[in-house]
Amino acid sequence: MNKFTNQLASSGEIANGPDAFFKNGFERLVNSPNQSELWWHNMPLPDGSRINGVSEDKDLQFKMWNAMQIASNGGLENKCVLDIGANDGFFSLAALAAGAREVTAMDMDWGTWPKNISYAAEKWHLTPTIVTADFRTYHFRDRYDVIFFLGVFYHLENVFDCMKKLRMILNEKGVIYLESQMSSLQVDVPIFEYSSDIYNTIARQDKASLGKVGISNYLFPNESAIMNLAHSYDFKITSLDGPDNLYTKENPTRRLFKFSKD
Ligand SMILES: C[S@@+](CC[C@H](N)C(=O)[O-])C[C@H]1O[C@@H](n2cnc3c(N)ncnc32)[C@H](O)[C@@H]1O
Repeated sequence: MNKFTNQLASSGEIANGPDAFFKNGFERLVNSPNQSELWWHNMPLPDGSRINGVSEDKDLQFKMWNAMQIASNGGLENKCVLDIGANDGFFSLAALAAGAREVTAMDMDWGTWPKNISYAAEKWHLTPTIVTADFRTYHFRDRYDVIFFLGVFYHLENVFDCMKKLRMILNEKGVIYLESQMSSLQVDVPIFEYSSDIYNTIARQDKASLGKVGISNYLFPNESAIMNLAHSYDFKITSLDGPDNLYTKENPTRRLFKFSKD
């Protein structure tokens, strides 16, 4: 019995451990049980219900999780995970449920941070370390085996400094799972599409939020830009496309990549 199973069993809430988090489907959708104004993630709860998040697709986060193909990429057992832009915490809690030794969940100016992640973590009796910070300026004392960098890349003003920083805080043989909105422009050279409120870009910039950390959009890469970034900063890169990736199949301009430091 691992720590997760023990905690749930002793809480009397549920007896079937980590599988409960990853259980297919849900018994009912519940609207913000903690009275927070918004849930971004469709969060499963131990009683079999799921919190009604903003996406139409109530399985969206599970599809992203499956698309990461974590089990076939070495799993998370005993790994130290950093979830940058953790938001409501679905991926941080999933990582703990999947056997990660420690998970640090980091976010900053998101309106419901850290209220929602704290609520869900408490319900699951899981204990991510919750850090409120901008990862670009945060002084990390630890190094990580796995970094989740999901939906964050295009919120950055400086993707190059960021890749350097991610490399620095990653252990040897560590991996970064990077998910991003992509540019839909078809060109053969690496490009970053600069998001705009006055041009018709793939998503708006949201200039009004430029003063906050990580809310506005900046750069949408094409595939060659991602490959070139990996090349510039000495990562081995794998595209996580493929028949198992229902997430990209259904959201073709959203892609997942695995950057490996080896
Ligand atoms: C689009 S949401 C993605 C949330 C989640 N990772 C997912 O994929 O569902 C982006 C999140 O990243 C956070 N974020 C963006 N830039 C950040 C930064 N520099 N430091 C910490 N958090 C950041 C935002 O506050 C927001 O919660």
